[in-house]
Parts: sequence; structure tokens; C-alpha cells
Amino acid sequence: MQLKAPFLSLFLAAGFCLASDDVDDTPLPLVIWHGLGDTFDGEGIQQVASLAEAINPGTFVHIVSLGDDANADRSATFFGNVTSQLETVCEALASHPILSTAPAIDALGFSQGGQFLRGYVERCNNPPVRSLVTYGSQHNGIVEFKACGSTDWLCKGAMALLRFNTFGAFVQSRLVPAQYYRDPADYDAYLEGSNYLADINNERAEKNEKYAERIAKLSNFVMYLFSEDTTVVPKVTGWFQEVNGTDVIPLRKRQMYKEDWLGLKKLDEKGGLRFRSIDGDHMQITEEALNETMSDFYGPYGRTFKAEKAAEGLWDEL
Ligand SMILES: *[C@@H]1O[C@H](CO)[C@@H](O)[C@H](O)[C@H]1NC(C)=O
Ligand SMILES: *[C@@H]1O[C@H](CO)[C@@H](O)[C@H](O)[C@H]1NC(C)=O
Ligand SMILES: *[C@@H]1O[C@H](CO)[C@@H](O)[C@H](O)[C@H]1NC(C)=O
Repeated sequence: MQLKAPFLSLFLAAGFCLASDDVDDTPLPLVIWHGLGDTFDGEGIQQVASLAEAINPGTFVHIVSLGDDANADRSATFFGNVTSQLETVCEALASHPILSTAPAIDALGFSQGGQFLRGYVERCNNPPVRSLVTYGSQHNGIVEFKACGSTDWLCKGAMALLRFNTFGAFVQSRLVPAQYYRDPADYDAYLEGSNYLADINNERAEKNEKYAERIAKLSNFVMYLFSEDTTVVPKVTGWFQEVNGTDVIPLRKRQMYKEDWLGLKKLDEKGGLRFRSIDGDHMQITEEALNETMSDFYGPYGRTFKAEKAAEGLWDEL
């Protein structure tokens, strides 16, 4: 018996009449979270969704949206409390008629969408993520974000706020990029005031063990870095590296990795932590890289992955 997607009928039916092989061949749904200033219906995002379908036919793609229309969704990339935004997304995915019946999902995060999907894994993970892939995300925060076009007043207004009492509750509860702002030279203020990143990076004295468990359980956590990224400062935040003054500390040399605050070491030991790069500036994503992501990490539920302990690469080499 041959059932086509949607996933819902397949997985509902699976328990009753399908052999397990049929289930194993079904591609997992893919959840995409777009970046700052983008919208769920943007052309680029839609193209990514079509590629997913072309490479892994039958893939159900869900694009995260935080508003009923494109304007509201775009505005929510700049303004809002990331913790409550994430709660909204967690509820939406957990109650989604198709996603909630899948045994797992794959996830693709662009820029800030990457650290938000990582937060989804750590805080909710229902349905659980198999492969989390991020492109140019700010896993270790930013000290600067040059994302605004010259006439993008929404963006400029947001960025003007960023510099104004960054770690005060007013800015932290309203301005999205402030919630992943992190300056090692002003680390205590960050630890105390950060409404998002300090928590999901498990940097505070009290660690959340669930976070580490859930990250370690991923099959893959793949971080793509744009080698010529001039928008995100520092760019190596895309590989979770620390830049403190002139020191650049690769993830594997960091205390957070060695003491495994986030389960990244555990994940690395099973070959699931992967560092990749793309030649180009922020979000100059190539179709080649997207194809690689889709075929290496997404697709059939029953597939296996080649373990890898790739070199992380150094700042100098980029
Ligand atoms: C953000 O929202 C969460 C959940 O509603 C709340 O607990 C937290 O206090 C809010 N953060 C700020 C800085 O207001
Ligand atoms: C950054 O470097 C300064 C000076 O060496 C040090 O005091 C500070 O603790 C470092 N910050 C972090 C987050 O490691
Ligand atoms: C990416 O995959 C699609 C679908 O298979 C294909 O049409 C396209 O040529 C591929 N692009 C590259 C750059 O390999």
C-alpha cells in the first residue's frame, strides 16, 4: 500500500496498517525560522521550502511565523520578548495537526532564527528535533549588528534602542537583538540582565540540565558560518566561538564546552557537532550549501548519518 504525504495520515495510519519500512522512508517535516527583518512569506524562504521538497520529495515544510500577516511577522523579528515568542512557537508546533504526529522534525534556522530554534530544542523539543542546522546564527551573541538598510526605519529604530541601557528590563523585554547581545567586557551586566542568551547558553551559575540533555540528544547540530560576514560582529559567533578583546577562543577550547554546560561535548563525541562554512557575506547562501544540508541531514526518518569530528577551523583560516 502506498500512501503519499501529508504526514498526518501517514503517521496516524502507521500505527494501524503500515509496515515500518514505509514510515522509515518518509522524510521528517522541516521547520524553518527566518531571520531579522524577514517574513514567513519572503521569496527566499519560499525557495528554500521548494528545494526541501525537490531534494526530499514528500517533505512537509512549516515556516515559523509570529504574526497573522507579513508585517506583524516582520515586526516581531525586531520587537518582542523572545521568551514569550518562543512559548508561542512551542505551543504552535506541539499542537500542529501534522507536526505533532511526526516522530521527530528537522529544523533550519537563518541568522537569529538559528539561536531561537536552539532555544526551542532546549526549552520545549516537542516534537523533538533530529537535525538542527543554523546559517550565520549568533550562538555566542553579538556586540554589533549592522543589519539595517538605509531606509529601513523599523530596523534603525530597533538598533538605536539596542545601545540604550541594553541590559535594562525595558529593552530586554522589548528589543529582540538585545536579548542576544553579549559583550565579554561587560559580562556581569549580561549575566544579570540578559533575557534570553545567558539562559539558553547555560552561562549562569545554576545550570539547567534539561538543556544539555536535549542538545546532546540531537542527531546533528550543524553550524554554517559565512566566512566574509560583515553584518554580524563577531562573525565567529556563528561557530559558537568566543571573542574577547583580541582573543579568539574556539568552541572546543571554551569552558562551556569542556564542562559541557550545553551537551555540545557529548554531541561532539558521537560525531554530531558539525562546523561548516560558506564563502560570502551574511546570508549569501548558495543553493549548493542548501542542497548539501538537505541531503546530508534531512530526509527519511530511518536514515543514518556519518559521524564526523571535523576540524573547527581557525579565525585566521577564514
Ligand atoms: C519575558 O517573558 C517571560 C515569559 O512571559 C517572562 O517570564 C519574563 O519576565 C519576560 N522578560 C522581561 C525582561 O520582561
Ligand atoms: C574577557 O577578558 C577579560 C580580560 O582578560 C576578563 O576579565 C573577562 O572575564 C573575560 N570575559 C569572559 C566572558 O571571559
Ligand atoms: C540543488 O538541487 C536541486 C534539486 O535537486 C537541483 O535542481 C539543483 O540543480 C541543485 N543545485 C545545485 C547548485 O547543485
